[in-house]
Amino acid sequence: MDETSKVSMQQAQISPYALALTPGDRVALKSQRPCCIWLTGLSGAGKSTLANALEVQLNRQGLHTSLLDGDNLRRGLCRDLGMDDEARKENVRRIAEVARLMVDAGLIVIVAAISPFRADRDAARRLFSPDAFVEVYVSTPFEVCAERDPKGLYREARAGRIKNFTGLDSPYEAPLAPECEINTCEVELSQACDRLAALLPT
Ligand code: ADX
Repeated sequence: MDETSKVSMQQAQISPYALALTPGDRVALKSQRPCCIWLTGLSGAGKSTLANALEVQLNRQGLHTSLLDGDNLRRGLCRDLGMDDEARKENVRRIAEVARLMVDAGLIVIVAAISPFRADRDAARRLFSPDAFVEVYVSTPFEVCAERDPKGLYREARAGRIKNFTGLDSPYEAPLAPECEINTCEVELSQACDRLAALLPT
């Protein structure tokens, strides 16, 4: 029996336990509507900068948040994953599942991850109720990201020292209908944060 069949057989033997407390019971203790704000875009587009500034702003408004940043998670939860298409799919799946658990716990969760594939982001969206998932396309153009190159990765990738680099030899599929698009060349950081904060469910 192959590994996939073994796993689905084991899955069939597991029945989910119906939890006594619902997400609604948890959120009833809070003065906020939980949701997931998902920032997608190229490396160097400004996702982490935006996510951090937004989280600080929301925290100062008294909102309870968490930030899931792709670079950080790749040091822990996702440290066994590489950068090929399958690994990115699994990376996004794990991030989405964690975000979902946190939203069910009552938090406003900000995700910052390249998440290059439309199908994987759509699968993430399906884990949430329609008003609890906000997809934000951080659309800073490739040339600008490559010019900024904050971690020197574009230079390394162009020299052939990094494989499967998003935008070079690995694709980035831009969202077709994001709730919001922010081009960091055109929008000030504080203005971008205000736009995102305005998208939180009320
Ligand atoms: S994702 O594509 O699977 O969503 P994620 O956002 O978690 O990626 O991590 C991307 C980070 O890893 C980038 O911000 C960059 O710092 C680093 N990185 C290392 N190798 C690559 C690569 N081949 N392509 C893109 N980013 C890379």
